[in-house]
Parts: sequence; structure tokens; C-alpha cells
Amino acid sequence: MDGVEDAQDTVVRLETLDQKHLPQVADLFREAFANKRCCGVFAVAESVAGMQKRYASYSAEKFQLGVVALRGDEVLGFCQMTTRKLPMYPSGAHHCEAGEMYIETIAVSDRARGQGIGGKLLRWSEEKARAEHMKKLTLEVFQGNRAIGLYERFGFKIVPPDGDCVDACCENVTVCCFFGRPYGWCHPKWGTHIMIKHLE
Ligand SMILES: CC(C)(COP(=O)(O)OP(=O)(O)OC[C@H]1O[C@@H](n2cnc3c(N)ncnc32)[C@H](O)[C@@H]1OP(=O)(O)O)[C@@H](O)C(=O)NCCC(=O)NCCS
Repeated sequence: MDGVEDAQDTVVRLETLDQKHLPQVADLFREAFANKRCCGVFAVAESVAGMQKRYASYSAEKFQLGVVALRGDEVLGFCQMTTRKLPMYPSGAHHCEAGEMYIETIAVSDRARGQGIGGKLLRWSEEKARAEHMKKLTLEVFQGNRAIGLYERFGFKIVPPDGDCVDACCENVTVCCFFGRPYGWCHPKWGTHIMIKHLE
């Protein structure tokens, strides 16, 4: 019996997001995105109460597009997706088209990175998007984020920017104002990439 309980405690399982997970998810958020600072100063994070309030306004459908990775009762990973008809966080961060499933957040605790949990969350995202008959799975990632390698291995491709250099410059300044320079002010890469995986 002890052996069975021990085995269950070491296995990472996925569970649909529920209100009861939110305090740990808020902690995970703070930990995973601590390097993102609004205007380079203020940590981009949400309090537990703020996150609970935000989720209280969401429909069951939005919860169905969220998942946590658990070892025992400990939340080690989190993924939240959204579609055109559902709210987006942060509001206006991306415009979803019809048939598009967008990964709004994906994060794994730094205690558990490199153990395949991020890959497990991505597989769940794709399965869920296919089950919802979506045509494409998308996400946005900071240029220079190591996670780009993981997304590429998973079949995501970088969408070439469609604007000119003035658009790119404006976008970079906006991203910088909201999220700072997560890899340091002297990092050569600016801005973000949209990445896409076609599901058809
Ligand atoms: C990106 C992330 C979700 C991956 O989760 P994971 O469980 O470590 O992923 P896996 O174990 O399945 O795969 C390992 C791959 O993840 C990526 N990765 C590992 N550590 C990372 C880190 N600190 N930051 C970003 N990506 C990382 C790398 O591509 C790694 O492969 P590599 O070692 O060959 O470079 C996780 O590292 C994380 O939460 N990072 C911080 C938050 C973040 O950047 N989220 C993505 C925003 S788009």
C-alpha cells in the first residue's frame, strides 16, 4: 500500500483546471515570469485574490481549456488556452481568428523543468485543440526564450512578421513597456515571435 502511494506521488498527472488549483497556479505564475517587469521595474504578476477574481468571471468552457500538471497535490505546471469567443489574458494580447486555439500561458516550476512536463502540456494542448476541431495552435514567445527550441521540436514554426521595420520597432517598444527586457537590457533579441502549428 505504501509502495502504491509512493508511486502515485512521483507520477506527474494532468488535471483540468479547477478553482482549487488557483493559489498554487498564481505562485507558479510569479515564479515562472519573475523576469518580466513592466517598464523594467514592476514584476508582472497577479495576486492569488486577483487571479481568483478573474477566473470567477470565466465560463466553464475557459476552465476546460486549462490544465495543471500535478505530482501528488503539488502543482508543477500550468497551461491555459483560449479561442476567439473566450476572454484573453492579458486582455488584447492577441487576436484569435476562427479555428485558432491560442496558448495564453504555459509554465513549469523551476523545480521541475527539463523533466518533460512542458512537452506533456503541449501534447495535451494539441489533443484538446484537435478535439475542438481547431485548424491551428498558436502561441507568442519572447525572442531569445529557450522555450523556442521546445516549441520547434514539437512542430511549431515562427510566423514571419507581416509589417515593416517601423511596425516591428513600435511592437518592440510596446512589448518592452509592458514586459521589460526579460533577458537583460543588453540582450541582442527584442520583441516576440508568434509561433504556429497547423493541425490539418
Ligand atoms: C518553457 C517551459 C514551460 C518548458 O517546460 P519544461 O518542463 O522545462 O519542458 P520539457 O522538460 O518538456 O522540455 C525541455 C525544454 O524546455 C525548454 N526549457 C528548459 N528550461 C527552460 C527555461 N528555464 N526557460 C525556457 N525554456 C526552457 C528548453 O527548450 C528545453 O530543451 P533543451 O534543454 O534541449 O533546451 C518551462 O521551462 C518554463 O516554464 N519556462 C519559464 C516560463 C516560460 O518561458 N514560458 C513560456 C512562455 S511562451
